[in-house]
Amino acid sequence: MKPISRRQALALGLVGAGATAAGGAGLLLAGTDQLRPRPGSGFTEPEMLSSSAGSLDVHLEPGPARVTIGDHKSSVAAYNGSLPGPTLRLRPGERLRATLANRLDEATNLHVHGLHVSPEGNGDNAFISVAPGESFDYEFILPPDHPPGTYWYHPHHHGTVARQLAAGLYGAIIVQDPQQLPVTRERVLVVSDISLDRAGNLRQPSPPERMMGREGQTVLVNGHVRPVLSAAPGERERWRIINACPARYLRLQIPGQQLRLLARDGSRLAGPRDMPEILLAPGNRAELLLTLGEGSFVLLAAPYDRGSMGAMMGRGPATGPVDLLSVDVRGEPSGALPPIPPPPRLRDLRTEPVAGRRRFDFSTGMGPFMDLRGMAFTINGKQFDAGRTDESVGAGTVEEWTLTNSSPMDHPLHLHIWPMQVIGAGNLDPAEPVWQDVVNIPARGEVKVLVAFDDFTGRTVFHCHILDHEDMGMMGVLEAR
Ligand code: C2O
Ligand code: CU
Ligand code: CU
Repeated sequence: MKPISRRQALALGLVGAGATAAGGAGLLLAGTDQLRPRPGSGFTEPEMLSSSAGSLDVHLEPGPARVTIGDHKSSVAAYNGSLPGPTLRLRPGERLRATLANRLDEATNLHVHGLHVSPEGNGDNAFISVAPGESFDYEFILPPDHPPGTYWYHPHHHGTVARQLAAGLYGAIIVQDPQQLPVTRERVLVVSDISLDRAGNLRQPSPPERMMGREGQTVLVNGHVRPVLSAAPGERERWRIINACPARYLRLQIPGQQLRLLARDGSRLAGPRDMPEILLAPGNRAELLLTLGEGSFVLLAAPYDRGSMGAMMGRGPATGPVDLLSVDVRGEPSGALPPIPPPPRLRDLRTEPVAGRRRFDFSTGMGPFMDLRGMAFTINGKQFDAGRTDESVGAGTVEEWTLTNSSPMDHPLHLHIWPMQVIGAGNLDPAEPVWQDVVNIPARGEVKVLVAFDDFTGRTVFHCHILDHEDMGMMGVLEAR
């Protein structure tokens, strides 16, 4: 890891408070030192902004911010000065208006990850660029039947997405259930990672780290290092967990407690299901239901092997388990709650006619599109070109996509606007429909999905959600018409 260059720090608007506090020399001296912030602060959640009278109007200001991580003042980038940004909460059928006022020194934009909204105009339009000092008014109108669930927002300006997320730009979006589920409490857990030097300045990854996808040295939950939360025995909690890391996979476990999966991305399961662990690729979300037993527990991310860059390039970061959060359960036991009512039946596209079939191959070949040290990140042999439309689909049709990965590392495919029903990953043939908006394609593996291009027309993107790969070109353009 090298310290972030002065030019890049300038671009994020980070030269100022942080660099000065470090005596101006921070950027030069920080070479090998890394910050290991102290864990153990109390669990907190970002500020919640909720809709009223059918709409939610927010002002989001991405810009340089000084925040305390562990016991260190750090210079990051954040929305409205807080890391993560505010949680946005609204209902199906409502409208979200967001004024994005860019206080960074480089272009940015806003993407509402997982929301089923129009990709056109001032909607969830990935092609918008908001210059430094300028602002843009976004409007997202959720259809009345929009799936309730956990979503999130982050910048999507091609070329700088990984860097802007790694600097601290992300926040949660909650689409409320029509009726509150019977739980003692609900929590939002935005999991991210960050790399800081001893002076509390951001550090940039080396070229091989970018090729593998950068993993920050410190993993945060709502901006804190291993926060501690407390609860009473028997309480039932609903945790909305977002993997906002640019490249890190989270293999979630809580030794000693029963993990129950309630929802994945924007889709509730027919009923809560006991799971030994849950894997979240970058961009994925999970909602967990926990009925807490007395004692002390840790939510951890167990090691996950997401492959390598190939024989020549070596393997990715070898990390042990990472503790995300401690849970302290003690006190008066609380009474039992009524069972969780089932969600409306999920649509199953396996019973519907398929209008088209496509194949997408993710590869990291050497080739004419070489990047960094000679690796090209492509989908069907092509690198992203905003001016080219790679796939045209018929609005209202259902398609079957075969996703293959001819590279030695995993790539999580994300499609904007329309969720995907996963119908085959290895020998999995799920009895109940599984819907996700990020689907992991294992190294050398293959996955099949079905997509219904309902409700909206327009151009949008699909890409690898290892954001360095996306920035290096592993993204395509799709148009529904
Ligand atoms: Cu979460 Cu296209 O991104
Ligand atoms: Cu997205
Ligand atoms: Cu990738």
